[in-house]
Parts: sequence; structure tokens; C-alpha cells
Amino acid sequence: MSGIFISFEGPDGAGKTTALNKLMPLLQKKTDQEIVLSREPGGSPISEKIRKIILDIHDEEMDPRTEALLYAAARRQHLIDVILPTLEANKIMLSDRFVDSSIAYQGGGRQIGTKEVAEINDFAIDGHLPDLTIYFDVSPSIGLSRIKKDHEGAMDRLEKEAISFHDRVYESYEEIVAQNPTRIKKINAEQTPDKVVQDALEVITNRFPNIFNKGE
Ligand code: TYD
Repeated sequence: MSGIFISFEGPDGAGKTTALNKLMPLLQKKTDQEIVLSREPGGSPISEKIRKIILDIHDEEMDPRTEALLYAAARRQHLIDVILPTLEANKIMLSDRFVDSSIAYQGGGRQIGTKEVAEINDFAIDGHLPDLTIYFDVSPSIGLSRIKKDHEGAMDRLEKEAISFHDRVYESYEEIVAQNPTRIKKINAEQTPDKVVQDALEVITNRFPNIFNKGE
């Protein structure tokens, strides 16, 4: 496998998706290797169908373990359909969320336990961890206020959870970041959008100088 795999993580309202859309063309200018951008839950036809079930606001009675298994199932299919073929073709894979989201949201947020959720995800990802993970650090209160401002009327099932849920997600992310200092790099996502993009760009180009070596 010769491509590189980078995931992007953070609480709701961290601004990952907006930042990624700006980051992608900036990164592409610096390398000849093709960059593929995808997201979880979803990213492939079957995984997008699973996404609809998971995020549906009418699925209020969904059991936390069912939710964790659905995220893991969507991830497995995304890995097989998109991530592995991209890496095998020597391309660069950017994923908006990956396994750390399940550990933080289902393990911590839903209180299933981070170890338990990591275990079912081990089965799903079979050792394929990202080479680098960028963690967008934003406090739950700022994250949630951004979401309310952007799309209060269209919040999904997870976003609608109580602040205590989002606090637990945040605490779990902090633990995951502390436990994986080599793989995960934290950036301050409370800065201006442009500064956040610049910081992410710097982390990635510094980590893979031989790949992002064009221009300047
Ligand atoms: P999405 O609209 O893609 O949000 P974002 O732009 O913040 O990534 O919705 C994804 C939601 O699903 C988000 O609230 C995080 C949650 N999630 C989990 O709970 N577990 C997971 O494994 C993943 C991938 C996402």
C-alpha cells in the first residue's frame, strides 16, 4: 500500500467540513499525487444508506450498541469501497471522520465504553488506521453555538443531544489525543477559518515533506 491516509476529527461545530473543502485544493497544488476526499458516516453508496438510518431524527429509540454497530458497518464498507482502493492506487485519502469518532461519540458520549467500541471497530477496520489524524479542538459550547447559528432547524439526531453528551464526547477526544501523540495532531479550531486551514496545511506538509513538495 503506497498512498497516505489522513483523517479529520473533532466535536460537532468544529468546522472540519468547511476547512477540508478549502484545504483540499491547497494540498493538491503541492503534490502530483491525486487527493480523494470522503466522509463518515457515508462515503460510498451502501455506507450513505446506513448514514441515513443513523442520523434520522425519527430513530429516537435506537439502542446505543445498535448505533455503534451501524457506524462500524458503514466504516467497514467505506474502507473496502473507497479507502483501500485509493491507497492501493497510490493516492492520498482524506476522510472527514474515522474510527476516533466512534470511540468518542459512542464510547464516551453514549457511555458504551471506549474499550468496547474500539474492539468492534478493530473488527471493522482490520488494522487500517490513518497515518495522520488532525484533531480540530473546539469547546462543546462554542461548537454547539456554531451549529445552532448555521442550521438549527436541520440538526441531526446526534447534534440534538444534550450538552452533557457533547461534554463527554469532548472529554473522550481529549483522552484519545493524549493516548496517540504520534498519530494525532491537535489544532486550535476556535481561530478564524483561514488560520485553521493554514495550521492544518502546515501539519500535513511538515509530516509528509516528500509528498507535498511542489510549488513555493
Ligand atoms: P455530519 O453531519 O457528517 O457531522 P460533521 O460535519 O460534524 O462530521 O454527522 C456526523 C455525526 O455523526 C456527527 O454528530 C458525529 C457522529 N458520528 C458518530 O457518532 N460516530 C461515528 O463513528 C461517526 C463517523 C460520526
